[in-house]
Amino acid sequence: MCYLEMVSAQSLTRENVKTRRMLNTTEADKPLGAQLLGCDPKMMADAAVILVELGFDLIDMNLGCPVKKVVGNGEGSAMLKDPAGAERVFRAVRDAVPSRIPVTMKTRKGFKDPSGDEAVELAKRAEAAGLSAVTIHGRTQAQGYSGRSDWEAIGKVKAAVKIPVIGNGDVLTAADAKRIREVSGCDGVMIGRGGLGNPWIYKNLDDGLEGRIDAPYVPSVAERKETLLKHFALERSLIGDRGAALNMRRITVWYTQGLPHNKVMRVAVCNTMDCDLIAKLISDFFDQLPADAPPPPCPSCWPNSYRVSGLTINDSPECAHPLESLIVRPDTL
Ligand SMILES: Cc1cc2nc3c(=O)[nH]c(=O)nc-3n(C[C@H](O)[C@H](O)[C@H](O)COP(=O)(O)O)c2cc1C
Repeated sequence: MCYLEMVSAQSLTRENVKTRRMLNTTEADKPLGAQLLGCDPKMMADAAVILVELGFDLIDMNLGCPVKKVVGNGEGSAMLKDPAGAERVFRAVRDAVPSRIPVTMKTRKGFKDPSGDEAVELAKRAEAAGLSAVTIHGRTQAQGYSGRSDWEAIGKVKAAVKIPVIGNGDVLTAADAKRIREVSGCDGVMIGRGGLGNPWIYKNLDDGLEGRIDAPYVPSVAERKETLLKHFALERSLIGDRGAALNMRRITVWYTQGLPHNKVMRVAVCNTMDCDLIAKLISDFFDQLPADAPPPPCPSCWPNSYRVSGLTINDSPECAHPLESLIVRPDTL
């Protein structure tokens, strides 16, 4: 199942148009979870009710976002330091939402403490508050997206609660999915960065885990072009041309990771708001690629490529792609 990107409970309850647009979706996405960011119990509960009315199938709460501004507001991963406050939010949201809708939370293994004990504390409180499951990303807030996800710490949480635990961090292949389950005992696996610009990962994981394939499916250059153009068309239809043009600045980076001559196309995409031109730039880029272009994208190295909302994502030591082929997004985006 998929989740939408987090939305701020405050913006949602204040009927912020941009936030509402972020929740646009289609029937094909179902079942679909939505995720709330916030630390005020009443506001989170009110926002959760709005999400239920919009038809989401699951309400998740974000207690893992590491971004400074978010943490400064006491939200996201800052709630690892306020377990009692977090529990008040869990209870308020659980009580506000009909029992048929699962309510879950996602957090990190700790704020600064690498032991996993802070995540255990939050997970126990989530269970006591009646939440249906927890997702644990095995990094601390201090780590951001660097270092390795600590699957043993996820195992600590699994051992401490009876509700399902979903393991997250550094799962890119079926072999990773098998190992995170072996190491942590987790009940499910959540994919993060591996899915960016690489929608084939989900089928590869399924087929790999079911033993249907020995090696991951590698889409052709033509299929990658069609998929990116389809992704763009969906963005346009769901959020409109302006938002789609801005989003394409990062989406094209994801899909063209490691491909030759990608820089010129990416710079051109970043410098226009004309959606027809963006579609042409993408088509022309793929059309000039050799049929044996490198496979897409190297999921372990894409985070080198840009900043997300002011967040600098650290270099990945595993990355074999030359840094100069990547583009840095302007901070203002
Ligand atoms: C660009 C970007 C956006 C993200 N947005 C969210 C989000 O909205 N909610 C959330 O819980 N985690 C979010 N994450 C974190 C991922 O869900 C995941 O926990 C993290 O990347 C670790 O998994 P990975 O190593 O498989 O990428 C985001 C990560 C990135 C890189």
